[in-house]
Amino acid sequence: QSHAQHQKLWNNARITITAGPTREAIDPVRYISNHSSGKMGYALAAAAARTGAQVTLISGPVSLEPPAGVTLIAVETAEQMLAATEETAMDVFIGCAAVSDYRPAEVASQKIKKEQQQGAPSLSLIKNPDVLKTIATSKQPPFCIGFAAETNNLREHALAKLDAKKLKLIVANDVSDKTIGFNSEQNAVTVYWQDGKKAFSAQNKTSLAEALNQLFAEHFFNENK
Ligand code: CTP
Ligand code: CA
Repeated sequence: QSHAQHQKLWNNARITITAGPTREAIDPVRYISNHSSGKMGYALAAAAARTGAQVTLISGPVSLEPPAGVTLIAVETAEQMLAATEETAMDVFIGCAAVSDYRPAEVASQKIKKEQQQGAPSLSLIKNPDVLKTIATSKQPPFCIGFAAETNNLREHALAKLDAKKLKLIVANDVSDKTIGFNSEQNAVTVYWQDGKKAFSAQNKTSLAEALNQLFAEHFFNENK
């Protein structure tokens, strides 16, 4: 595609994307997190920016360079991710981050010392806010797209999330196959919406992001024409 066609795809739509893991403190030196690399969200942000979107990327701690032309907001916790998203989400919101579902109920202000414990300590957890659901069920929600990482019953779980979170599209990712998806270079997904679906075969995250970017724009403008 020509440069002009690329510019036209998003027509300056404002897109907010979350990416990477969140990090939930236990004490000043320890945290709960996950293996998300952020690659998928960063690749989507790059693809959207290349095709004429104004992109804000809200990222948990990852070791990736921010893509050219993207506004980066670095966060650590789910609560910070939610606050940044509420401030920036406008036309389209893509929840790509692997948000920690729980965080420690209390954060120790000093490093927890093992001599001061009776045996192994137990960690009590509380639920984090659901960033995507909060945004998608807000008063005038942007066009919301989610991701679903599943190890089984992919279609059923993805459709349940589409419905429960009031999403327009959900990108379902089978994470039972260790060679693709989470923290890998390659990814294969199926995108579901209310009355349709589209499968994308295993490919590198840059080319998958370009294909998803096209599909997202088509659906967004179909709804907003
Ligand atoms: N998500 C979010 N905030 C959370 C949890 C999830 O914004 N606290 C978003 C993710 O970014 C993703 C989608 O919701 O786009 C689905 O995340 P996933 O972890 O697959 O689903 P959950 O609703 O958390 O359910 P579960 O982990 O139990 O499968
Ligand atoms: Ca989850």
